[in-house]
Amino acid sequence: MVDLLGQYEKIKPQIDKAVLDVIASSAYINGPEVKSFQAELEAYLGVKHVIPCANGTDALQIAMMALNLQPGDEVITADFTYAATAEVIALLKLTPVLVDVIPGTFTIDPVAFEKAINKNTKAVVPVHLFGQCAEMEKIMEIANRHKLFVIEDTAQAIGADYIFSNGTKKKAGTIGTVGCTSFFPSKNLGCFGDGGALFTNDDALAAKFRMITNHGQSVLYYHDEVGVNSRLDSIQAAILRIKLRHLDEYANARNKAAAYYDKAFSGNAKLQIPVREPQSDHVFHQYTLVLNGPDRNAMREFLSAQGIPAMIYYPIPLHLQKAYTDPRYKEGDFPVTEHLCRNVISLPMHTELTDADLERISNGVLEFLKQ
Ligand SMILES: Cc1ncc(COP(=O)(O)O)c(C=O)c1O
Repeated sequence: MVDLLGQYEKIKPQIDKAVLDVIASSAYINGPEVKSFQAELEAYLGVKHVIPCANGTDALQIAMMALNLQPGDEVITADFTYAATAEVIALLKLTPVLVDVIPGTFTIDPVAFEKAINKNTKAVVPVHLFGQCAEMEKIMEIANRHKLFVIEDTAQAIGADYIFSNGTKKKAGTIGTVGCTSFFPSKNLGCFGDGGALFTNDDALAAKFRMITNHGQSVLYYHDEVGVNSRLDSIQAAILRIKLRHLDEYANARNKAAAYYDKAFSGNAKLQIPVREPQSDHVFHQYTLVLNGPDRNAMREFLSAQGIPAMIYYPIPLHLQKAYTDPRYKEGDFPVTEHLCRNVISLPMHTELTDADLERISNGVLEFLKQ
């Protein structure tokens, strides 16, 4: 599905030197590389503060801790997402409130979001799934009207621009109260281990995020509140500094691959290609088809026999996951998500796909669909 080695080989001398320099410096934790990466990512995103942390799940958790959400407060999010989004809500004893998504873009349905708001609602977590922004203009308008925090989960869409109706552009994760991202190796900006970050333009919140990531300390050994230990290693920051310089080029490579797939599959009634919304860039973390009839398992087996991987993101809606069963929800409550979970299939998507790879993968899919 990804070719991390192929991507590394193209920038191997710079990466190897950066890693060896950190080892030689012995500044492994909170060293200068972390500070430099933070500043460079702030400049790239056009955001006042980037607070690095240990992974994307921690970023979401730290955001919710800093916003002072209390047990019982309701946090609305999309039913169709990676479990981490809902996991931290449940972990903090907040109440996850799930809503359905839009069939074409797979992102939270703003109408369903507004309907789910009540007096206990404190925040919404729009997920910029598969590399495209949720409908942020509508979401922000609704959230502002109801005085809700907006925690953007931008683990899959770093670098995507959102374009408002007045033409203003903002990077995914810099629109709401806080943006949370992941630098997991297969992410669009991935390190060689775990990593994550929070983004905000709010000075006071940024200070709180920093404090919480560092055991709730304002000053060394003075713990003002309960925090966590969530740091980005200097080695990972050094790697991310180099990869950040290539992020736009990586997005272009992903878009080129997506355009190839689009051309191969568009007009085929047996599937739906990813819908591109004019108000958002797509950075194609995943290229996800929705099958309209064909047997998905048979297709995976057919492709696998030709050495072509395909993955199902995500096979089970959150409300039907064992860990999140809730008397409020039952099968049939979120028909769009349930339909997607039964019919989506993602094809290999990364920065190193050649035309020959794309031809082989597309031909495999088309051959299966002809059966
Ligand atoms: C949408 C989404 N949110 C959150 C996360 C969590 O990130 P991490 O794996 O770095 O904890 C991921 C990563 O898989 C994700 O895809």
